[in-house]
Amino acid sequence: MNLIDTHTHLFVTEFDKDRYEVINNAFNAGVSKMILPGINSSYINVQLQMTEAFPGICFPAAGLHPSDVNKDFEEELRIVENNIETGKFIAVGEIGIDLYWDQTFKEEQKIAFEKQVMLAKKYQLPVIIHVRDSFSEIFKITDKHNDENLTGIFHSFTGTKEDTEKIINYGGFKIGINGIVTFKNSGLDKIVKKIDLKHIVLETDSPYLSPVPKRGKRNESANLIYIAEKIAEIKEISLEEVAEITNQNALNVFGNNLF
Ligand code: NI
Repeated sequence: MNLIDTHTHLFVTEFDKDRYEVINNAFNAGVSKMILPGINSSYINVQLQMTEAFPGICFPAAGLHPSDVNKDFEEELRIVENNIETGKFIAVGEIGIDLYWDQTFKEEQKIAFEKQVMLAKKYQLPVIIHVRDSFSEIFKITDKHNDENLTGIFHSFTGTKEDTEKIINYGGFKIGINGIVTFKNSGLDKIVKKIDLKHIVLETDSPYLSPVPKRGKRNESANLIYIAEKIAEIKEISLEEVAEITNQNALNVFGNNLF
């Protein structure tokens, strides 16, 4: 088995005690590559240490997470751009708008998202987009900037069938599916059934959203197999086929940077 976890935050403190063991476990469970989307500048050193310790396996992205946008976001965005310029980061993310947890900096979130979308285009990198209660705000910005130079992933997808159609019609985007698809009553299984597999990439979003049967525990990239198995069940195809197609989709987004 060979899977790509396109979204895993193994650099956060939840993994301080056993980070390298967790990466080894994931690799031994068939997760051959792990993409580490940024949150804020405080994690950059750990992201880079992991990349150096596991070359060709761990890949960092640079970005300011919407829930970490506050009045100092301009300074954080300068750091994001400085990091991108080093050439060590394979995407701009995770970026987006989150109106579920806190709306205090709603306007700043929109500005930070748009600026990072423009950075991604400037440096020809894909974006990793976080949407929470914010599809209309996000789409307003992606509508404005979408062209053949804008590519990426709508991560942790929980939208409607209409949302999937809009994302697919952009042309350069894939849809990130994680453990939510294994949750009873999430309804995501019915949406996934209707999306052609060529538009889907797999992710764990570790340490959050552990899939069934690990629900409620700390999530880790080794659990990606449960998400792949669920999609195989929904699509009534083999696990190998899920792995092969979703890996190709991830490679389409990240290109040669994923080696
Ligand atoms: Ni995330």
